[in-house]
Amino acid sequence: MKIAELPVPEQAKEILVNMGITDLFPPQEDTIRAGVLENQNIVLASPTASGKTLIAELCSLKHVLEKNGKVIYLAPLRALASEKFEEFHKYTSLRKMDGRKVSVGISTGDFDTADNWLERYDIIVTTNEKADSLLRHRAKWMDNISLVIADEVHLLNDASRGPTLEIVLARLLQVNPDIQVLALSATIGNVDEIAGWLNAKFIVTDWRPVSLKEGVVLHDEIQYRDGDARKIEKKNSNPTVNLVLNTLKGGGQALVFASTRKNAVAAAKTIAVQTAEVLSKPLKRTLEHEAEKILATGERTQISETLAGLVRCGAAFHHAGLAGPHRKLIEDSFKEGKIKVLTSTPTLAFGVNLPARTVVIQDYRRFEPGYGNYPISVLEYKQMAGRAGRPKYDKVGESILIAKTRDEADYLMEGYILAKPERIWSRLAVEKIIRGHVLATVASDFAHSEQGIYEFFGKTFYAYQYDVKAIKSLIGKILNYLYEEKMIEVVGDNICATKFGKRVSELYIDPLSGVVIRDALENKPAALTEFSLLHLIAHTPDMGPVMRPYARECDPLALALEDHKNELFTEAPDQFADHFAYEEFLGEIKTALVMNSWIDEVTEERLIQMFNVQPGDLYRIIENAKWLLHATDELASLFGEKKVLPLTSELVERVGKGIKKELLPIVRLEGVGRIRGRIMFNAGYQSINDLKAASIEDLTNLPLVGPRLAKKIKEQVGGYVKKDMWERIDKEQEFKQRALFEF
Ligand SMILES: Nc1ncnc2c1ncn2[C@@H]1O[C@H](COP(=O)(O)OP(=O)(O)OP(=O)(O)O)[C@@H](O)[C@H]1O
Ligand SMILES: [Mg+2]
Repeated sequence: MKIAELPVPEQAKEILVNMGITDLFPPQEDTIRAGVLENQNIVLASPTASGKTLIAELCSLKHVLEKNGKVIYLAPLRALASEKFEEFHKYTSLRKMDGRKVSVGISTGDFDTADNWLERYDIIVTTNEKADSLLRHRAKWMDNISLVIADEVHLLNDASRGPTLEIVLARLLQVNPDIQVLALSATIGNVDEIAGWLNAKFIVTDWRPVSLKEGVVLHDEIQYRDGDARKIEKKNSNPTVNLVLNTLKGGGQALVFASTRKNAVAAAKTIAVQTAEVLSKPLKRTLEHEAEKILATGERTQISETLAGLVRCGAAFHHAGLAGPHRKLIEDSFKEGKIKVLTSTPTLAFGVNLPARTVVIQDYRRFEPGYGNYPISVLEYKQMAGRAGRPKYDKVGESILIAKTRDEADYLMEGYILAKPERIWSRLAVEKIIRGHVLATVASDFAHSEQGIYEFFGKTFYAYQYDVKAIKSLIGKILNYLYEEKMIEVVGDNICATKFGKRVSELYIDPLSGVVIRDALENKPAALTEFSLLHLIAHTPDMGPVMRPYARECDPLALALEDHKNELFTEAPDQFADHFAYEEFLGEIKTALVMNSWIDEVTEERLIQMFNVQPGDLYRIIENAKWLLHATDELASLFGEKKVLPLTSELVERVGKGIKKELLPIVRLEGVGRIRGRIMFNAGYQSINDLKAASIEDLTNLPLVGPRLAKKIKEQVGGYVKKDMWERIDKEQEFKQRALFEF
């Protein structure tokens, strides 16, 4: 079927044809024939790279251009959300029936807001969590959504992301029963079941636009799925290195999946030694430039230096321990063909389009807490393998598993390459997960009786698979807990949320965290300090996995605990009666100390060394801390805790920026962070008034302050600058940019 024949507005088709997309892929054709453009609910399960996004795009345009509709695109990960946002951007030149241009928005951050500005957008890309939080705020515009797209819907099976996704879908269907659902899935064992749940037709295909050769390498021989075999040049004792070199020789790029962050870094280091030798001179120059960009982004740490060093050799690693801007730089540079080899944890396994001609899967086992090393699922293997051979970049793809023995090679062939992906199962029925959703159901007016709550949960995938009776007693137990903790109350015949319950639900924190914070506010410690609050939030379950202290850290942490004893909201567990709980408590002290050093302006590099954390962990702690301090601030205000309030609001800002109190006024300026703020402060610019009085030259004389920033600061603080000075700065800036471009 030709794009030109599709029943969508001409202007939309033109965009695709101009991009070289002229014919539909067979799975796309099947989906169109099944009625996706006529409001039919569909679950499309087809292999990686088979073009599922295009169906989502066409269907969205149908809604926006012809039906005056509104679309929400649910992506499981932020990286995927931003890739999809960029893909949808090409349609923003199109005009709707009312003459206005199509608008596309993205919202993945801050959970405590209804984001009413999103109302302006026709197509909204969000993560599942963000969508859930918006539903809790009952954002008005959500009632107008006419199409929901659930990308990577097989992640219903994922213990952490799946439950949110099923709740969001069930709620959207409840708010708007006429909503069209388009679910995109990898091939899985029970597509029919997801379709049954969503009242949808399903399409299953095994078609892929670019052939993907899946194989196992043993020593220097690759055995393929179709019986083919080939030898690769054995330049190194490490098969990954040989596979990578082989790919580079053929002009391709390679993506190597490792099971842990440490292994990803180690693999990149081993590979880089070899790749450095095969790079051309111009490429080396380009890579030098990329390395400089990495060093110029964020604070310099050993990790950014290692990364920059590897990039110079055409290799890099990618994992959740990297800072966001570094991750983005690496992804873009790999997409642009500059970095030739990328090693990654499974963070890049889902949905993204990368130019990897070869994928190497180093390890089919992963460490699962409580289970030890555990083989990954066939589903996950297929997702990783499927990053190879994407139509935008390559004509053929290859994915190779590594075996150490003949037996293992046979096992990998049978157990992964020839195996069928598993069935997926709902992961909803876990108390910790469902607690917040039960509260939200009442607090956001989705139900006001026990029966109503069961009815709502009856619409989830869990209930479809197991029957709602299976979680009735769990829900009953949670309702009791919420009642006892005064988050819900009975008014006449109705169950309603108290102010406390409603706020906790909107703040998107676990009700248990809400209780911890409320109890702490009621029983303040002898000395209320910053550390009190930092430990309090580290003590809530929402801070995420506690950083278990290393054995050698326990003694110093115990001393710190002693030092801060009268500042703590909670008492430490007895170390002899419950050693496990005591160590966990020391872990919380460690998290609090990390945050305390962060707002004491300790450098990132030093923090990483002092506490053995990685930048990504540090950012996770900071992000969670900002959110939980905001929650504490809001709850303190709800309970009229005037004593705590100034401290909490101040801490939200300080933790956000990583600064001492004295820098607060000047870091509120755009472009001024903790490093530049400190330089300016030490040079005597300690307030807005000081900056008003400063000349542009004074400011540009400071380290790390260029003319553009100096101009930006002056624009923000006011103060007089002569016209010819502005002109000179603009000229200088233009000249610099041109020089960079010509280089
Ligand atoms: N009809 C088409 N003709 C040419 N290229 C296409 C067509 N449809 C999609 N593509 C291209 O195919 C690539 C892969 O598409 P997409 O990302 O939608 O795959 P997917 O099915 O979602 O895979 P995954 O399961 O890995 O997420 C994209 O680069 C897209 O531009
Ligand atoms: Mg996809």
